[in-house]
Amino acid sequence: MSTLKLGLVYCSLIFNVLFVYKYLHGSHDLVDQKWSKSAAGEAEAVAAVSCSGHGRAYVDGIISGDGKPVCECNACFTGLDCSQSVPGCILDADSGNPIYLEPYWMQHAASTAIVLSGWHRMGYEYDDGSLISKELHSEIFKLHDIVKNVNTTGRYLIFGAGSTQLLGAAVHSLSLESSQPAKVVASVPYYPVYKSQTELLDSTMYKFMGDTSLQNKSDSSTNFIEFVTSPNNPDGQLKKAVLEGSNKIHDLAYYWPHYSPIVAPVDEDIAIFTLSKLTGHAGSRFGWALIKDKAVYERMVKYMDLNTYGVARETQLRALKLLQHVVQGRGNDLFEFGYGTMKRRWELLSKTLEASQRFSVQHLSSQYCTFLDSYRTPSPAFAWIKCEQEDDEECSKVVLGEAKVIGRAGSLFGAGNGYVRISLTDSQDHFNNLLNRMKKLVSQERTQSGTRLHFDTTANKTWDVEYQNMGVDQEMQGSLDGKTSVAVHLQAAITFAAT
Ligand SMILES: Cc1ncc(COP(=O)(O)O)c(C=O)c1O
Repeated sequence: MSTLKLGLVYCSLIFNVLFVYKYLHGSHDLVDQKWSKSAAGEAEAVAAVSCSGHGRAYVDGIISGDGKPVCECNACFTGLDCSQSVPGCILDADSGNPIYLEPYWMQHAASTAIVLSGWHRMGYEYDDGSLISKELHSEIFKLHDIVKNVNTTGRYLIFGAGSTQLLGAAVHSLSLESSQPAKVVASVPYYPVYKSQTELLDSTMYKFMGDTSLQNKSDSSTNFIEFVTSPNNPDGQLKKAVLEGSNKIHDLAYYWPHYSPIVAPVDEDIAIFTLSKLTGHAGSRFGWALIKDKAVYERMVKYMDLNTYGVARETQLRALKLLQHVVQGRGNDLFEFGYGTMKRRWELLSKTLEASQRFSVQHLSSQYCTFLDSYRTPSPAFAWIKCEQEDDEECSKVVLGEAKVIGRAGSLFGAGNGYVRISLTDSQDHFNNLLNRMKKLVSQERTQSGTRLHFDTTANKTWDVEYQNMGVDQEMQGSLDGKTSVAVHLQAAITFAAT
């Protein structure tokens, strides 16, 4: 071989090695990346806007007169940079907004950011004609295999615009199991959307009939569609179906280690999940259902086709990126953060309410969790509070009037208005504020002028009222030997000792 040929062979070899190296190790200048740079720059610039730790600016948020993104402040914070707190503001704890997970995603910004080109999946279907991303399908199955919260073997998977859409699709599909109109039921207290959505659709094929306890348990002639929510919204209890032979929809929105012990994989006909409670991305509107029966699945697919024709490709891309991150870490980071936060919040709130005679909160016990491989203490998404005193007829009004906290009234859950649901899943600012207000409310029970303390003297006991010169009504001084309940007006703590 001539020296020239040999030289050319060497040059070609070196060129190829360099090409492969550049391709594998940062092919940045081989691909024209200019179009994504300005979008990435814009996202980074907005993320860098300081909202004093009490708010956030968004790429699609309002732009101020000087061209800067405007901060959107957390509840009870205001000002251009959200630095001013608003004492005495009304705190909305009605919604189950899962903002408590925001700090987690900020810590994992790099591994979960996505870039969307202007031409990203413009068509109606994926390449294979389906409406479902195969990669996302596989990531969901992988995650369930890690957490072991549901049996995925032989199940069909369908996506929805949030689980809300899937709840409607499932009711529709199950109602067609019989030619008789179906009765849609749930156990009190139940998630209000089961009732409101069923009533809104006002179908001749199904009607909402309320509490399972009002139905004949062993009535096999009726097509019952029973919602089973486990853990339950509002009270966090693990639930089982009540009616024998009913068609069941298992709503497992909260069956993740943040909120619940994983006691066993759920092995039911229809199991519905949502990204809203798993990763906290409620705004992305993504849910999925695992379905055992092919005919039920096909009817749900038809419903979705005629309703929204699938879930937005942008949403599926975002869900994919988030779930890839979760699966890669085998869920450990996310669940540790989620469970740690919710557990702390529950400990603080339930301890506060323990000191109250006026309010009580649901009791939840520690249980063994197969995912954590240990016993875990409770960490529910909501506090289901009961007003214990007869005078406090509408608990949501009491909490709003005296603590300026908006909760969801018990009647919406099919329970009495003696209950109110308070959400624990919002931002840390929101929770701190909520906790302080509940603490104040409870402490006022003992110290506030005009508080009525009822105590029962029917046991014919004599009570010595020890008071600390704090303005106890004159006639209550001395000892009490009553046979009926008496009320004392208090301005400060007093102690009673049976004699
Ligand atoms: C029990 C339950 N099911 C379903 C949903 C609806 O979730 P999504 O945001 O997926 O529509 C919620 C939301 O709060 C819920 O609490």
